Amino acid sequence: MISATQPHSRSYTCPTTRPDIATDVLEGLCRVPKSLPPKLLYDARGSALFEQITDLPEYYPTRTEAAILAAHAEEICSRLERDISVSELGAGSATKTRILLRSLLHRQSTVDYFPLDVSHAALQIAKDEVENELDAVTVYPQIGDFTDLAFLVRQPSPRLVLYIGSSIGNLEQADAISLLQTIAGHLSSGDKLLLGADLVKDSAVLNAAYNDSAGITASFNKNLLLRINRELGGHFEPDAFSHVSFWNEPESRIELHLESLCSQSVRVDALDATLNFYPGERIHTENSYKYTLERLKNLLRYGGFQVEHTWTDPDCWFAVSLGVVA
Ligand code: AVJ
Repeated sequence: MISATQPHSRSYTCPTTRPDIATDVLEGLCRVPKSLPPKLLYDARGSALFEQITDLPEYYPTRTEAAILAAHAEEICSRLERDISVSELGAGSATKTRILLRSLLHRQSTVDYFPLDVSHAALQIAKDEVENELDAVTVYPQIGDFTDLAFLVRQPSPRLVLYIGSSIGNLEQADAISLLQTIAGHLSSGDKLLLGADLVKDSAVLNAAYNDSAGITASFNKNLLLRINRELGGHFEPDAFSHVSFWNEPESRIELHLESLCSQSVRVDALDATLNFYPGERIHTENSYKYTLERLKNLLRYGGFQVEHTWTDPDCWFAVSLGVVA
């Protein structure tokens, strides 16, 4: 169990109920074309598969971003106010975050850390591992998705919000801007956002990162069907679908789909629904938008942040930007 001891003067809620996926699944699979929101990829098994993806030789984003954070952690922290508290959107198991927290502790004696994630299991790992490794960090797990940002208001000032890992890439441009505006709206002038975004690069590199030879990304994608089977009494046969992913150049995004290999009808008991698939029909499961440095700057600006600095790796494959609420 996650038992977050809360600071006396504030009340934090940490609901532990399983999110209800029925509405999202029914809504997405009744659309034409069919789609499912990428947040559904991250149940306990999906989060564990994503952790495996981050270690794949083809999947460059995590290690590239970690290298940027490691190389510049001191400089990033030197740009922050003292006694800052840290929250993180889509924290997962918070592996990369520890690099920053460690540097922060060179400048302040304690850190309150508020990781938000949809996966209870991932948050449990985050809390255990961060508190084990860093005595002076207190972790207050927040279960929820990006519509559950009210906790930011209660995060003690001055605040740093981490939105690293290029999760922003899951969002359409308009949604990305309005999410940043919502974040900025919950913060105060002078609070900061550290945003990690994946950059446009050679299409062979991009395609390989989402079509790994070990098939972990395919398992991660198909886990969505298994999750519907587990949680909603679905009767999906994962071998009757193939993992399809490709770089869509004009849209500047990687797309993930599950493609039906035959004509089939799939019953989902808890939805009292039967879903029909024609051969080759796809369920669109994820977009992963890739930015240029210019579009990243504009995103932050339109989102209500003034860009202070952007760090990249030597190949310019990934960017980490520090923005401040104007
Ligand atoms: C967690 C959204 C950053 O887009 O690269 C990895 C998810 N999907 N492989 C990404 C993902 C397939 C990942 N993000």
